[in-house]
Order: sequence, then structure tokens, then C-alpha cells
Amino acid sequence: MAHITINPDRVIGRISKNIYGHFSEHLGRCIYNGIFVGRDSAIPNVYGMRSDVVAALRHIKIPVLRWPGGCFADEYHWQDGIGPLEERKRMVNTNWGYVVEDNSFGTHEFLELCSQLGCEPYINANVGSGTVREMAEWVEYVNSEGDSSVVRTRWANGRKEPWGVRFWGVGNENWGCGGNMRPEYYADEFRRYQTYCRNYGENKLFRIACGPNTDDYRWTEVLMQQAGRFMDGLTMHYYTITGTEWAHKGKALQFSDTEYYELLRKACRMDELVTGHSRIMDRYDPSHRIGLIVDEWGSWHEVEAGTNPGFLYQQNTMRDAMVAAIHLNIFNRHCDRVIMANLAQTVNVLQSVILTDGDRMVLTPTYHVFDLFKAHQDAEAVDCFVETAKVGTDEWTVDHITASASKKDGRMTLTLANLSMDEAEEITVFCPNTGSVNGRILTGDARQYNDFGNEQVTIQAFDEFLVKDQAITLTVPGCSVVELTIA
Ligand code: AHR
Repeated sequence: MAHITINPDRVIGRISKNIYGHFSEHLGRCIYNGIFVGRDSAIPNVYGMRSDVVAALRHIKIPVLRWPGGCFADEYHWQDGIGPLEERKRMVNTNWGYVVEDNSFGTHEFLELCSQLGCEPYINANVGSGTVREMAEWVEYVNSEGDSSVVRTRWANGRKEPWGVRFWGVGNENWGCGGNMRPEYYADEFRRYQTYCRNYGENKLFRIACGPNTDDYRWTEVLMQQAGRFMDGLTMHYYTITGTEWAHKGKALQFSDTEYYELLRKACRMDELVTGHSRIMDRYDPSHRIGLIVDEWGSWHEVEAGTNPGFLYQQNTMRDAMVAAIHLNIFNRHCDRVIMANLAQTVNVLQSVILTDGDRMVLTPTYHVFDLFKAHQDAEAVDCFVETAKVGTDEWTVDHITASASKKDGRMTLTLANLSMDEAEEITVFCPNTGSVNGRILTGDARQYNDFGNEQVTIQAFDEFLVKDQAITLTVPGCSVVELTIA
């Protein structure tokens, strides 16, 4: 038996819609084939963007999309991806499978995609192998109205108005694939690069510095101390894997019960990491001017057999849906510091919300979690106290129930997950002024997944609850995610 007590008067902060953001890299079949098929494709598209994928992402109200990487970002030269298609430079994508990148998806295409999605673009620019001038001119190209040669090139390429891109990432994983830098060195590089990323017109850039890997607290300390005043956001990356070595990760579809709890326990670690990095940020930035941006997160399994190891293609089960629910509840609860998060990656790579195969598309269980949580976007997070037991194995235990709550437009949204693989749990929710209640549920066996032509896991209406004396009593099956809308 678990208890959840919601206190609508204790507001934690506003849940930025950007916590529900996504990430798309030039990696495997994420951009090419997954999102972009080109105008001449037989697959229905608008200016080359797959119409099915765009519609699906609009349905979950994708608020922000990060591009072009990832590790690819620090080898990407934006000038190669503009102008007539046949004249664009070709390169080999040395990070991801050594395949040819023909640059047919570049700046104009990305910003067209964001406009079709109705989301904000987040461009992650190149520090590792780029130059200050290259980055400065990319900002100028997308944002300036001045009559310069750079802007004239944009006009010649068919775009008169600047796009007004706000989110600007200065390098990616510069402690690793982005140049193997030390934090002191990167802090100085960040200060230098961001100086020349100018604001144009009304558009004020939101300057994002490369933050730590997982629990590298020293990186956060140095960055905050030496470059804090120049940044608006600091990133953090944490992936959830089973096993102790990256080279021997567990599989997406075949896993033991122990590995189920191992993955969930490791997903819960996001709370410890956000708390730890926030504590350091609090010392340098007590007013919370700088946002923590978790711009890469999600489960990372072994690639599916028979697929290119450099393409990071993995299937996605109910276990991954639980990982998503755990993270999103954590981010909601930390919305006073976490202002954006981007699941890695949107289509066909790692914990995708969408998988494609030729002209076919399937929505993963993780997609449906984003659907269940979408009412939290831009709502006010309120105190949501959960009293619950632990479940799991001797080695890996997790809270039986995780939850978060927010209010908007006179309605309360409560999202909760029963993390047990198979044990149902009775939950009593105390929420003042409860009138009508509506529910939706995503549930299934932990190993269930959606395959092409065989969608087993979808959202169902949920009305197995009783409302009495300001309390809602419900029994939630194991391995499920529930959204309650309380009016
Ligand atoms: O998302 C895959 C890769 O993981 C990204 O390119 C990189 O930033 C991270 O290491």
C-alpha cells in the first residue's frame, strides 16, 4: 500500500516544457531515413521531412530539438551543409560507422524541420575541430539581418528572414569526443567562443556550456567557478546501461529479472546526479539564473543483432518506458534547476520514441510515456510526497512507486509509475478539492515491445479508481505508468 499526498499550495517551480525535449544526431538512421528522406522520396514528406514522423512528434508536443550532435557536432562544419545540394561537400562520418555524409540535411533543413514540428531549435556548435570565426558566422547566418556577405549567402540560399535561434551549445562532451579537454582549458575556450556569438536584433542567445559526464563534479565546479558568469545553461550527460562495462552492455529485448531492476535502479541515479550537480551550481548561482540541461539521457543497450554497430539501433520495451517515467518524474521534481532535457535519440537511435523501417513507422513504449506526461509541460510543479515500499532483488532495489504532480488551468496532473515487474500496488492519493478524475495507463509485460505491424503496447483509458473524501484509491498493475487528471 502506497500513499501519495499532493499539496497544491507548495509550488516547486514551473516545469519548463523543454524538459520534454529530444535530440537528433547525424548518427545511423536518425536523421537520414528516420526523419529526412529527401523531397524525391516515395515516402510522404514535406520538403523531405517524413510526414508520419512529424505528425507523431507533434502529437507529443515536442518542444525543442537538439542537433547536429553529439560527437558529430564537433566534427561538423556548417558551411558544408548549405547551398545547392549537388555542390555540398561530402565527408565520412568517422564517429558513427564511417558512412558517407552528403550534407543534404543542413541548417536550412533542420530549421525547416523545427518549423514543421512547431518546436524550438537547439543548435550544438563545433568547438573541438572548429574555429571561433566558424561558430560566430553560423550565429550570424541564422540570426542576423545585417547586410553582410554571410547574410547575403543566406539570402542567396532562399531565406530572407533570420530564424532567431536562441539555444546555442558551445561544444559537446569536450571532456571526451569533443576534444578531450581538461575543465580549466574548456572553461577558457567557452569564454572565448561565446564572446563572438553575438546577439542580433531582439534575439538574445541562450549560451550553453558543455557540462559534466555523469558524476564528474569537478568539471561542474571548475566550469561554474571560471565561466559561470558567461553561461545561461550547463549540460549534463548520463546514460543508463546494465553491466559494468560499456563494451559488454545488456540487450534491449533479452534481459533477466535482475537486469530489469538493475536498469531501473541505475535510472533512479539521475536524481542523485541532478542533486549533486545542483548543489555545486547553488553555491555559485544561488538565484538559479543558470539552468541545468540534461541534453543526453536514456537507456543504452547493445545494438540489435545484424545491424551496423556504429548506428546504435536498439528496440525498446516496457522496461525502457519505466526508465523514461523515472527520469521525467525526477526532472519535474527538479524543475527549479533543470530547465531542459533531451532524450537520446528521437528516431532509430538508442532510446528512441519512434522506429522506422522503410516507409513503416512504429511508436515505442517510451513514446507513450511522453504522451502520458505532456500535460506537465509549462505547468507548476507542486509538492507530491510519496510513501512507498521498496521492490527488486537483493542487489537492486527501487521505490515501488514514483510520482510527480503539477497544476495548470485549474487541473492537477499526477503521473506515477509502478516499478515492480509484476506486483500490483494499491495507492491512495490525497489531493484537496478532488472533483472529477480521468485516467490513462500504459501497461504490459516488462519485455513487451512494439514491432512493425505488431503494436502491443499502447495507452488505454484507466478508470479503476474510487474517489471518496478527497482521496483517490486505485490499484496499479506492476510495470505500468499512469496519468491521472484531477479537476
Ligand atoms: O548519443 C550518442 C552519443 O553519446 C553522442 O554522440 C555523444 O555525445 C554521447 O557520448
